[in-house]
Amino acid sequence: MKFTTTTIAALVAVLPMANAWIFSTCSGQWDSHGNQGCTKSSCKTGDTIDWENTWGSDCVLRLYSDKSCDNQIGIADDDWNDHTLGKSKPKSAVDGRLISIKDNICTRDMPTTCASGILDKFKSPFNATVVDELENAGAIVAGKTNLDEFGMGSNSINSHFGAVQNPRRDGSGEDLSAGGSSGGSAASVAADQCYASLGTDTGGSVRLPAAYTGTVGFKPSYGMISRWGVVAYANSLDTVGILSKTTASVRDIFDLLNKHDQRDPTNLSIQSRSRINAYHQTPRFASRLTSAPLRIGVPIEYNVSELTPSVRRAWILSLAHLQKQGHTIHPVSLPATRHALSAYYILAPGEASSNLAKYDGVRYGTRAAGPDGDGKPDGYLYANTRGEGFGAEVKRRIVLGTFSLSADEIDNYFIKAQRVRRLVQHDFDSVFAAKHPLHVTASQHAQNDSVTHPDVDVLLCPTAPSSPPRLSDLTDPKKKSSLDAYVTDVFTVPASLAGLPAVSVPVTVAGQGDEAELAGIQVVGQYGDDELVMNVGEMLEGRTLEEAA
Ligand SMILES: *[C@@H]1O[C@H](CO)[C@@H](O)[C@H](O)[C@H]1NC(C)=O
Ligand SMILES: *[C@@H]1O[C@H](CO)[C@@H](O)[C@H](O)[C@H]1NC(C)=O
Ligand SMILES: *[C@@H]1O[C@H](CO)[C@@H](O)[C@H](O)[C@H]1NC(C)=O
Ligand SMILES: *[C@@H]1O[C@H](CO)[C@@H](O)[C@H](O)[C@H]1NC(C)=O
Repeated sequence: MKFTTTTIAALVAVLPMANAWIFSTCSGQWDSHGNQGCTKSSCKTGDTIDWENTWGSDCVLRLYSDKSCDNQIGIADDDWNDHTLGKSKPKSAVDGRLISIKDNICTRDMPTTCASGILDKFKSPFNATVVDELENAGAIVAGKTNLDEFGMGSNSINSHFGAVQNPRRDGSGEDLSAGGSSGGSAASVAADQCYASLGTDTGGSVRLPAAYTGTVGFKPSYGMISRWGVVAYANSLDTVGILSKTTASVRDIFDLLNKHDQRDPTNLSIQSRSRINAYHQTPRFASRLTSAPLRIGVPIEYNVSELTPSVRRAWILSLAHLQKQGHTIHPVSLPATRHALSAYYILAPGEASSNLAKYDGVRYGTRAAGPDGDGKPDGYLYANTRGEGFGAEVKRRIVLGTFSLSADEIDNYFIKAQRVRRLVQHDFDSVFAAKHPLHVTASQHAQNDSVTHPDVDVLLCPTAPSSPPRLSDLTDPKKKSSLDAYVTDVFTVPASLAGLPAVSVPVTVAGQGDEAELAGIQVVGQYGDDELVMNVGEMLEGRTLEEAA
């Protein structure tokens, strides 16, 4: 179908949701530059549009009419040509690169929907700090990516605009989950539509999609990257995360974004940042980044029964690979892990229920048609709007959160969950050789006791307990309940509760007869050890691991 203004007008009339948006069908070819993402020829703006599933299969990027895919790629091409012809020096490692942005991060020129019906017409009056930073460094925003509504989900199927499909298929060609909630971001990177993507990670939302799509997904230490302009899900857990094909490019982008922002409500002060740096630059810790063999911890509690044999094999072979490089492996115990998931699913919905209260169709949000309050005299002003605007999973979490925060229940649920959270943080502090840099005093900096301290530098574990589930199984209520999806976060939630840096990198286990298996391996480090975590991830990234004969 050829797109003309009249067809757009006709579609807008039928489907108010569409609202002059244009969807690209970048087919995912590398261009002649070898590293720039989709090309002009592979990207036909508004070519085939499946309005029921606007962000599904091929359409990962969602573009606004005056920022068409062609246009953005054209700018990227010109920049790139200028650099390669020596006409201009690249401003940064991302100058002229296409970067996609999860649709819960505000952009002034493109709508920000959070994949929710309640924000389907919302356009932010400003860019998030991270978007401005990338644009100032020369990056080109390629488009917005689909997600689970407000980031709530582990498979990117809870979207007002339809499920995200993983560019990978399973052996029988079935569509797979791309993971959630940053599934669109991961898919846009995996399908080579973009050089990198920004997502958000509340309990694993960047790492899980990275594991399912075979990309690198990094969640930095809490508070390092500005969250100004990022729509909040659970404030005490949310971080902006970075997805790309390589750890090296993730590191470049992290270096650009890792700075103080006065407007960030969770800003880390400049003094705290220098304290963290000073702590990690003491001789004991600085050496880990260069020469010293690392002590790698294996949390024994993570050997859960839900772990599939192929993921367990990938874990064991990754450890063996690091051991061969001269690093040492140490079993460690994180006993609070078994309660972490339950605590997370009390805390995150609690914070969400209060964050989402503002979407009432008056202050924010798309108002439902018809009279206020169901037309009944005692009806609530926003009942229709919220009833129609939110999807089922968001409603479930609002109800769960409101319940656990209610006066009768707060002691039984929310306060207990906060205690569990403190235990999880304590578990991590007791296994890492480095102390939490924000909790150590200046005199402890000078002490040398940690030289003989037996503890580990990083932890290594799988990102997800299994390979990506089929989309058809997820949407079939007979096969899986929505609660089953919660267990996929079991390995990612603890680092979120403790605010620690973590990266998921893809490894392949060489096949024995049948095809090779791809799995995501997660590296978790002490607060502020972001660089070390990425370095260890890089040692494993993209490796094909073979079982010793
Ligand atoms: C960010 O804001 C500036 C103007 O302040 C605008 O020119 C730019 O296109 C915006 N970026 C996006 C991705 O909306
Ligand atoms: C950090 O954020 C708070 C709240 O937005 C603000 O009041 C404070 O001035 C900021 N701190 C710095 C050092 O910018
Ligand atoms: C992990 O669990 C499996 C099966 O339950 C068991 O065979 C294996 O020994 C366990 N590994 C460790 C390191 O505990
Ligand atoms: C730390 O150890 C080094 C040698 O390993 C020693 O020279 C130095 O005095 C020690 N510092 C303190 C504060 O104990």
